[in-house]
Amino acid sequence: MENLDELRDDLLSQVKAADLEALEDLRVLALGRSGTITEMVKGIGQLKPEDRRSAGQQLNVLKNTIADAIDARKEVLEAEALDAGLAADRIDVTLPQRPASAGRIHPISQTIDEMVAIFCEMGFTVAEGPHIETDFNNFTALNIPPEHPARQDHDTFYLPAGEDGERKVLRTHTSPVQIRTMVNEKPPIRIVVPGRTFRADHDATHSPMFHQIEGLVIDKATHMGHLRGCLEEFCRAFFDVDDLPVRFRPSYFPFTEPSAEVDIGCSREGGGLKIGAGAEWLEILGCGMVNPRVLENCGINPMQYQGFAFGLGIERAAMLKYGIPDLRTFYDSDIRWLKHYGFVPLDVPNVAAGLVG
Ligand code: DAH
Repeated sequence: MENLDELRDDLLSQVKAADLEALEDLRVLALGRSGTITEMVKGIGQLKPEDRRSAGQQLNVLKNTIADAIDARKEVLEAEALDAGLAADRIDVTLPQRPASAGRIHPISQTIDEMVAIFCEMGFTVAEGPHIETDFNNFTALNIPPEHPARQDHDTFYLPAGEDGERKVLRTHTSPVQIRTMVNEKPPIRIVVPGRTFRADHDATHSPMFHQIEGLVIDKATHMGHLRGCLEEFCRAFFDVDDLPVRFRPSYFPFTEPSAEVDIGCSREGGGLKIGAGAEWLEILGCGMVNPRVLENCGINPMQYQGFAFGLGIERAAMLKYGIPDLRTFYDSDIRWLKHYGFVPLDVPNVAAGLVG
């Protein structure tokens, strides 16, 4: 035990010189399970009984001295490492920032915006109505009375009957907003109505929820020439084809008389669809002169006022214009689909990036 002081001094000088790794080795060598000091403690049993007590005390002091020295050194080294790390760590403020992800505009929203912009330029304003409608607004006032065959075509979602026994419906088209507007406003009326519509129908070309845009013009002398001009101009502006062939084909809707369907010229040569070229026709919307019975149902005198109405499906128009092949993908909420078919929002100046000049 004579060499304890020497051993202590030797260990302390090693601790002083050690880095973090060497310090741990040192701890194991001196204080570990078979470390120098540990072995000496184990050897106490071999000493003469009268020497054991003081040897035990001395070794204990030595053990604590070394352990404390190692802890103290470790603290210093760790603090130094942290300081060095912080000193070396630099934020490069001149790096260009990562572009902010701005999201995409859904093709349905984009198509509605485009259509509304075209009609607003012509002097229309936007009107809206509720998704849950009365049977009167959705059917009866539009000259689709009970038992009328047109009701069967609509695959209507009915709500449970209310206290008065009336069954409301999820509107099957945007046409009830015509009724609401004519009941509540005096002519002249010039509205477009974009919105959701509902029919119990689901396959590759039908979805139980879809969108339509409706138009209504009521004035004293509005005639079919206006209807024709308005819709021709709309089709050409929407599909961005100046000489787009547009034809009006006689048809039937209970709420218009006469009624027509509007076709646009296209070609399907070579498999793809090309709008505006070729000898084929593609149906795009329904329209007509508002049936005098509908005007009467809304309290408008058909001897004084007349007008036209039209309606078309937004999804179908979007699919045609933007080459989207499957209707169902509109509602899948697939972010990759939206990145592909969606529209970049208007670029707003990025203030965080700094203003130049
Ligand atoms: N409501 C019709 C439908 O859902 C579309 C329509 C056709 C609306 C002719 C009109 C119209 O206003 O005049 O199929």
